[in-house]
Amino acid sequence: MQTVVTDAPEEAAGFLNHAGIVAFPTETVYGLGADVFLPEAVSRIFTAKGRPSDNPLIVHVQTPEQIGEVACDIDRNAAALIERFFPGPLTVVLRKRAQVPEIVSAGLPTVGVRCPSHPVASAFLRHCEHPVAAPSANLSGRPSPTDWRTVYHDLGGRIDCLLRGEPSTIGLESTIVDCSVDPPRLLRSGAVSLESLLDVVPGLKIATSCKPGDAPKSPGMKYRHYSPEALIVLLETAQAPPEPVTPSAWIGLSAPPPGMERTLRCSSVEEYARVLFGFFRTCDASGILTIYCELPAERGIGRAIRDRLQKASGK
Ligand code: TXA
Ligand code: MG
Repeated sequence: MQTVVTDAPEEAAGFLNHAGIVAFPTETVYGLGADVFLPEAVSRIFTAKGRPSDNPLIVHVQTPEQIGEVACDIDRNAAALIERFFPGPLTVVLRKRAQVPEIVSAGLPTVGVRCPSHPVASAFLRHCEHPVAAPSANLSGRPSPTDWRTVYHDLGGRIDCLLRGEPSTIGLESTIVDCSVDPPRLLRSGAVSLESLLDVVPGLKIATSCKPGDAPKSPGMKYRHYSPEALIVLLETAQAPPEPVTPSAWIGLSAPPPGMERTLRCSSVEEYARVLFGFFRTCDASGILTIYCELPAERGIGRAIRDRLQKASGK
């Protein structure tokens, strides 16, 4: 299959409206979309990514008003979160409408809904006839793509169209809050921080990550995620790395330790989030065997960085 690469949101939406699958930029990471009401098109997303079919997709809307096309029973908490954080890097899980195909929700009675703030995503969604079901635009199990070249590397030849944009400014996937339960539960941390969620919904709870044998709260929690080929070793701030398996690399906020092939010192947690997945990919491409990652403090987007690092290290 030939993948058309374009800068024109309208052209990309044309593919989607004719049952194609289209990668597009968002402020979090790039997504791979299909028309939410075309189950055959949605099933091609799973094939292109090699994604397990029991992992549901997030539905992207252009405006909060469009939420009603896919979800119902928006309670007081959900309404307050939508009012405060849409458009932006937040996904809310709501009770789904019967019209949403099973393949989108992986058979769950709920659906995750997000309204991206990225101008190119917004222009693309405006030209799409319906909301767009989209996971991140990576091969399953690999780090999410934050620039169009990485999408092309993973999915070129497997998708109909790639809408090109600037690199994602946040770099980590959206915060997910399950609003189908009361109190709502944080399922995945992201750029919308726990602190800012608690400002809006003081009773919000954090979902405990799944133990073996438990039914996962968010199906995606049970898969190894965000993984580079290299071994990921987590370090507390200022902790010296053990004798490295070389060649090795280091990323963090402090001064890097000596003896590393490749280092990336970030000047803020926001920069750390933005560059992390790209650094994983660069390390893999240059044959790095071990990546030492300094854990940031568990506040703000630091919580999301810790979560992705823990998942990448297989914990
Ligand atoms: O920032 C993002 O969220 C990006 C961009 C493209 O919007 N998308 C993204 O999608 O990260 P994905 O598929 O890689 O991650 C979606 C996560 C999965 O872990 C999935 O299990 C969870 O959301 N999810 C989706 N629908 C759900 C539902 N109804 N209930 C619980 N978890 C759900
Ligand atoms: Mg993903």
